[in-house]
Amino acid sequence: MNIAELKAVANAIVAKSKGVLAADESSPTIKKRFDSIKAESTEENRRRYRELLFTTDEIERYIGGVILYDETLRQSTRDGVPFARLLSSRGIAPGIKVDKGAKALALYPGDKVAEGLDGLRERLAEYKQLGAKFAKWRAVIEIDEKNIPTAFGIRANAHALARYAALCQEVDIVPIVEPEVLMDGAHGIERCEAVTAQVLEAVFAELDAHCVVFDGMLLKPNMVIPGKKCPQQAGVAQVAEATMRCLTRYVPAAVPGIVFLSGGQSAEDATDHLNAMNAMGAHPWQVSFSYGRALQAPVLAAWKGQESNVAAAQKALLKRCRLNGLARDGKYTRAMEAG
Ligand code: 13P
Repeated sequence: MNIAELKAVANAIVAKSKGVLAADESSPTIKKRFDSIKAESTEENRRRYRELLFTTDEIERYIGGVILYDETLRQSTRDGVPFARLLSSRGIAPGIKVDKGAKALALYPGDKVAEGLDGLRERLAEYKQLGAKFAKWRAVIEIDEKNIPTAFGIRANAHALARYAALCQEVDIVPIVEPEVLMDGAHGIERCEAVTAQVLEAVFAELDAHCVVFDGMLLKPNMVIPGKKCPQQAGVAQVAEATMRCLTRYVPAAVPGIVFLSGGQSAEDATDHLNAMNAMGAHPWQVSFSYGRALQAPVLAAWKGQESNVAAAQKALLKRCRLNGLARDGKYTRAMEAG
């Protein structure tokens, strides 16, 4: 393991004003996104869409890494430049999603566990050859008001995340460790905070037991937020305070960066929350973003699958990148959305 290299890649991804563009939707997920704009999910349309994202001018000012899906890492621009090479040449680290999705945890009704450890060492070796500098594994923690997740469900996911992270560091690939407590459901913000705390405690205990070097990884957590169906929604300051309180208690200061997922928040809310956390002052780690929907929803809406809309779609992407870049410094305001 080359700790200096791992640290350098992790630090570059969360350098000043920068975060991550999550463009690693699996084929079934991107089909859902394309269905919403009535575009057909063919391999060529997916390639065209990803080319639109990765060739947007100036995003390298705000984007330090892009997460790709297996198919995308093997694709190229229409001029034949592999996407990984294109991104690297722009100073953006290419990354790869390596989990194979969350499945029901046997004998634990309601709990899920992410699969994909079998053969992972061999897959990582190939991804490295293809240019991947970092990877992502997403554990999905479903939550209800009382019964799930179980303590064992949390442990199973934490264990898998740690095995994945160790395999990545073995070949000098920076692991993004993503334990996502879902926003679905009617639970309140306190319940989200309590479950997120248990999850983070378990994840860092397992990472430590697996000898994962905290300096050479990034954490991709959910924000602490009430369930979407909770009648009591929280204000921006309340989300920022609860999230920072929880992370400060459970995330070691050696971790270079926190890169939040957006998890179904609107693009504007995700930026506002990130801004509020950075406006609170200095934190032990960089506080940044690794948004999928919160960066891409306006892009898809502008593109609609039409070549004639590519410029408008790229403008929408650059705008979200720029505003999140400002939120990295606590310098974003909602009024900027009009510009
Ligand atoms: P969202 O920001 O849409 O939650 O996606 C981020 C991600 O990569 C989830 O694994």
